[in-house]
Amino acid sequence: MTLLPGDGIGPEVSRAAVKVIDAAGANIEWDEVEAGIGVVEKYGKPLPEHVLEKIKKNRVAFKGPLTTIVGKGFASVNVELRKTLDLYANLRPVQNLPGIQSRFGDIDLVVVRENTEDLYSGLEHKIAPGVAQSLKIITRKASSRIVKFAFEYAGKHRRKKVTAVHKANIMKVSDGLFLETAKGVAKRYPKIKYQEVIVDNLCMQLVMKPQQYDVLVLTNLYGDIVSDLCAGLVGGLGLVPGANIGDKCAVFEAVHGSAPDIAGKGIANPLALILSGILMLEHIGQMQTADRVRQAVHRVTARGKVLTPDLGGKASTMEMAEAIVAAMQ
Ligand code: NAI
Repeated sequence: MTLLPGDGIGPEVSRAAVKVIDAAGANIEWDEVEAGIGVVEKYGKPLPEHVLEKIKKNRVAFKGPLTTIVGKGFASVNVELRKTLDLYANLRPVQNLPGIQSRFGDIDLVVVRENTEDLYSGLEHKIAPGVAQSLKIITRKASSRIVKFAFEYAGKHRRKKVTAVHKANIMKVSDGLFLETAKGVAKRYPKIKYQEVIVDNLCMQLVMKPQQYDVLVLTNLYGDIVSDLCAGLVGGLGLVPGANIGDKCAVFEAVHGSAPDIAGKGIANPLALILSGILMLEHIGQMQTADRVRQAVHRVTARGKVLTPDLGGKASTMEMAEAIVAAMQ
């Protein structure tokens, strides 16, 4: 398993997550590599070739967050990884954890975000002084496979409804193509209910009555924004796992970023990455180990004694990991 600890809070939460996964008895040999702005001097770029080769060889990677400088510098390593390895599906299950106070107590949503195109294609330029242009790329191929992924996931996990999210009232051609494709794919899954919603309405509905949704399927930018919104519904970014899945490889990482405001303080919440570890263990078929980690996490959050500051506690990142390990006994 390729391990990319990341930067900012990445190494802190990765260490904690690896400790928990190993303690649960996972049959994993870690193959650690570095990427990000910290390796540019050494390798000339933030995503060195050997890192990509290792992920391709191992086929599964576990990754901490990596910083992307705003407005200048190298393109995002996260976006690069997803595009180069064709990790087209970004899966983010959002559920309440026992004992964690949040706005709602009965959230069980899955956000499926397209990961390879849309406004993340990186096709941006200045076309005249004071005028910049970003190209939003939507293709039938990418739309079709992400909607298919959402329906297949729904079928496998006994979900009842898939909602396609769009803004085709304004972007009639690009979002129109996504929507038309989604409708076509939905017809192949008559047992799963299909619904459409405009993205701005979705945001309002989510903060008022999120229980009405089940699986959401979105293009890249809407998916990025809406998944953070959904994380807020259950208590914040420290609690939501993620997976980037392609036909050949998969990279498991938390929804959150490198959190420079708290990096190095040892107070980052490791749960999001630990929960991503559960998704990873399930992906590689180590179901019992995944279950052991899940139960231990639930015991610790339900007791509410050892929690990081974002959850109202005083524990450090490692203390929380140690409490989860202890809860496995
Ligand atoms: P962020 O997710 O790093 O932080 C947003 C807020 O949530 C901050 O107040 C932070 O302290 C808090 N937070 C995040 N994770 C937390 C955790 N585990 N425990 C407790 N609090 C946590 O988002 P931001 O500030 O927009 O991005 C920072 C950097 O991370 C940027 O360079 C961005 O490009 C990068 N990023 C990387 C991602 C990845 O590697 N997949 C995903 C999102 C952002």
